[in-house]
Amino acid sequence: MLVHVYPAEELTCRAAAFLFAAQLTQKPDSVFGFATGSTPIPCYKDLISFYEQGLLDFSQVISFNLDEYCGIAQDHPSSYHRFMHENLFSHINIPKENIHIPNSMGVDACERYDKAIEQAGGIDLQLLGIGKNGHIGFNEPDDAFSCGTHIVKLTESTIAANARFFKDEKDVPRTAISMGISSIMACHSIVLIATGESKAKAVYDTLNGPINPHVPASILRLHPNATFLLDQDAASML
Ligand code: F6R
Repeated sequence: MLVHVYPAEELTCRAAAFLFAAQLTQKPDSVFGFATGSTPIPCYKDLISFYEQGLLDFSQVISFNLDEYCGIAQDHPSSYHRFMHENLFSHINIPKENIHIPNSMGVDACERYDKAIEQAGGIDLQLLGIGKNGHIGFNEPDDAFSCGTHIVKLTESTIAANARFFKDEKDVPRTAISMGISSIMACHSIVLIATGESKAKAVYDTLNGPINPHVPASILRLHPNATFLLDQDAASML
């Protein structure tokens, strides 16, 4: 596992954009895993800028997002569908039919998502943020690591953290659909970005504590090709 610490948030996210750019340059039909939240936004801005400058071509890319809330429409202002379109997809030339975002509709929704990832040949490069409680995707602290895509009950801490994207905390959905820990560990390469002091404890526990499901990100230490990109604030307890 590699850990890099950068002097500023912008540089940390640019380092992630460089990894995506290198992967895409070497494999034009790369399968990318994307995350939502505040953390990756500067990375997506850089990818858009690389595309606009003619450095990158997303026309053969296939993408899978980590997660989505249950019970809100795709065009809801706070849906992850909407987030991805506004912050990345509508600015690059990825074909609409190549974009996959989990959708909790239908009894076999989770199995279908896992099958689609498998049929695409697996995810070449997965982007991750990290929750203040060490969650990755919506894999919350628990007594066991989760397996494939599944429906999750959000913790109070995640509901409170995500309330900023909704009018009111009570509007935050209580459940979500998320790729599981096994799905994440099956990705060929992983890049996790953590920025800001509020992530320092989660980063410390992930990298220095025991590998255990109460800090879901800690399992990434067992991944053969995981890279942690941290700004100085997120790395301040290391
Ligand atoms: C979202 C996701 C979450 C976030 C995490 C950090 O797709 O996978 O695990 O990465 O909650 O969110 P931010 O970046 O908003 O601090």
